[in-house]
Amino acid sequence: MPLKRTHIVSAAQTKFGALEGVTLREMFAEAVDKATTDAGIPKKDIQAVFAGCFIPEMLVHQGHTAPLLADFAGLRGLPATRHEAACASGAVALRAGIMAIESGLYDTVLVAGAEKMTSVSTAKATEALAAAADDEFESSMGLTFPGVFAMAAVAHMQKYGTTEEDMALVAVKAHKNASTNPYAQFQKEITLEKAMNPRYVAWPLKLFDCSPISDGAAAVVLSSQERAKKYADVSVKIVGTGQASASMDLCGRTDLTSFEASVRASKEAYKMAKLEPRNIDFAVVHDCFTIAEIIATEDIGFFKPGEGAKALREGVTARDGSKPVNPDGGLKAVGHPVGATGVKQAVVCFKQLTGQAGPNQVPKYNSAIMHNFGGTGATCVCNIFRRADA
Ligand code: COA
Repeated sequence: MPLKRTHIVSAAQTKFGALEGVTLREMFAEAVDKATTDAGIPKKDIQAVFAGCFIPEMLVHQGHTAPLLADFAGLRGLPATRHEAACASGAVALRAGIMAIESGLYDTVLVAGAEKMTSVSTAKATEALAAAADDEFESSMGLTFPGVFAMAAVAHMQKYGTTEEDMALVAVKAHKNASTNPYAQFQKEITLEKAMNPRYVAWPLKLFDCSPISDGAAAVVLSSQERAKKYADVSVKIVGTGQASASMDLCGRTDLTSFEASVRASKEAYKMAKLEPRNIDFAVVHDCFTIAEIIATEDIGFFKPGEGAKALREGVTARDGSKPVNPDGGLKAVGHPVGATGVKQAVVCFKQLTGQAGPNQVPKYNSAIMHNFGGTGATCVCNIFRRADA
């Protein structure tokens, strides 16, 4: 079934990083205010709130977050529901918002994601994040996310000859793009030499191969086609959405060089949009580790399996390349406050597609795909967007 109605009419994010002294609810409210009042959309028009937040119970000792966040953001009384799918929490909240508009139940809804991670030590955050993997078979045995993606990297290196330098080049590109992004945690370019040199976190992944631990929030307002003109001169239409799951534990997978949920979710989104990868101008993918970006660009069909690193080396995925990937700096350099990430990816697509990305603007911006996955890729959501007037 094609999507008929849903438009993104405004989008905003807070700065990502270690936001000392700023609480979860304050970040959420800041993103909401920017996406509503500051964008000329009265809060009274919002009919429901879909919130992405992964694990506030462990990070800030707070459950039942959606009504709390909605209330603090000035949206008291509305139906407010939290959506959790590990690092894909933001994208499943977005999909719930899309379905609510498509069904005709609502005409204007808010989707927002937030996470406060730096309130605990790196060790505690790592333990909290590990809850996104299979505890009985993996996390309780000591497997953490850097370890999971290190295994994917080794598999990709063995099967396709991908190198540590290829992965470092993802980090160099990310930091270059983030250097002109005021919302980024790391606004500094790094050289290939610097990316290659720091300590290993989980061989073959080094410090610069990892996304950081971050705080931040992002929000978008979705509206029906009929309402979109009221809110924005140029809106972004959601033309395809796909979601898939896979086994939580890695021993249930046949191949670590590709994430089957990413392949399925992207195929579903392309089919719904009646578009193919060659029709899409740029991608915003889940680069929680540098190898994850290389694999994602293959899984969403931008490049053939094993050819992601070659495209990267040739500059195809650079901001001014023919298939830009993560033009804002991605999770790697902008930061990865997990519950916010999926919504932030939609914010990046909105800003690019409406020509508001400033120095980070890609050359062609009619259509985009976003790819957000959770845990070891056990959940993946892909959405395809087009500028409404394109
Ligand atoms: N990339 C680049 N620099 C980073 C970084 C990253 N990912 N993480 C930290 N740094 C920098 C800090 O800014 C700091 O620099 P400074 O000394 O100039 O101030 C320095 O490295 C040390 O920072 P610190 O916070 O003490 O590092 P850490 O050892 O506690 O944490 C990681 C580093 C990589 C272990 C941590 O960021 C991590 O676990 N990342 C993965 C998160 C994750 O798994 N997310 C879910 C993915 S599915």
